[in-house]
Amino acid sequence: MTLRLEPREYLQAADILRRGGIVAFPTETVYGLGGDATLPSAIAAIFEAKGRPSDNPLIVHLGSPDQLTDCCRQIPSLAYSLMDAFCPGPLTLVLPKKPIILDRVTASLPSVAVRFPAHETARKLLLAADRPIAAPSANRSGSPSATRWEAVLEDLDGRIDAVLCDRAAEIGLESTVVDLTSPTPIILRHGAITLEQLRAIEANFATAAPELSTTVNSPGLRHRHYQPRARVYLCESHPYFDRKKEPMRRAWIGLTDLSPDRDRFALIQACSTVDEYARSLYEYFRHCDALQIDEIYCQAVTEAGLGRALMDRLRRAAQPPA
Ligand code: TXA
Ligand code: MG
Repeated sequence: MTLRLEPREYLQAADILRRGGIVAFPTETVYGLGGDATLPSAIAAIFEAKGRPSDNPLIVHLGSPDQLTDCCRQIPSLAYSLMDAFCPGPLTLVLPKKPIILDRVTASLPSVAVRFPAHETARKLLLAADRPIAAPSANRSGSPSATRWEAVLEDLDGRIDAVLCDRAAEIGLESTVVDLTSPTPIILRHGAITLEQLRAIEANFATAAPELSTTVNSPGLRHRHYQPRARVYLCESHPYFDRKKEPMRRAWIGLTDLSPDRDRFALIQACSTVDEYARSLYEYFRHCDALQIDEIYCQAVTEAGLGRALMDRLRRAAQPPA
């Protein structure tokens, strides 16, 4: 049985973490599945519960910037500038790791990804646990990340010790991941801290070429990701399909309101802003699966600001099955 905890019961959740258990908790990006990054049994339990390939490294979550030097070494001054500007918040820094972080956490990489969530419940939990907490997104490997505790339980009920049941995640897409281990800083994954914001701090920020992000630098990005059961299609505006050909159940999500085309879609979600689109996407995917939708048509957005992260997730979701 997975224990359901109220946010005010975070001390109990911290206690479970300190005793080697695994607990799902809210963050401002998506829900995470936490375990002590220094305990082999806790890390094994995370990989097991998610069905996660062991070559996909985990992000270590910290409650206080003082803990950074416990986990990382050779910290460049850029790391501190970025932390001043964006932490706590949806930014993950990849830095050379110290031995206290298990190889199992980093998939044997010499680096570790660290992040300081801004979410109040997450911060209280991390400070009370007073340990580096490894936490991937709290979903079964390959499914869309969970933005609500109900979605966490859909995927992981009975497979994890507890879940802190808080509100839906505000951002809805995973954190921006930046690699600070080489002379040129690189964005490995786009998120709510945007390329524009990062370049305002350090003009030389590069974005990982797709080839790069699928190989050594961010092993997680080569795995199947963010996909609902329904086929996802990325399109500009009104998608064309021959309605008479096959009796498909279709859904639409985008900035254009296709309600006038109601007869073509079983489900339509029009979002007023890119932020709302990003916040709704994973939950919409799950909702479509629950309604046995066959095809989800997702409208493309401009690749600027949060639009870059959204387009990245949409492209991954739209990748044809291998
Ligand atoms: O917003 C988030 O980052 C959420 C919440 C829970 O904090 N977490 C999350 O974790 O999205 P996960 O495991 O789903 O994604 C972690 C990403 C993967 O793409 C992984 O490859 C990358 O971070 N990563 C982790 N450690 C790394 C490392 N040492 N070097 C390069 N990439 C790393
Ligand atoms: Mg994930």
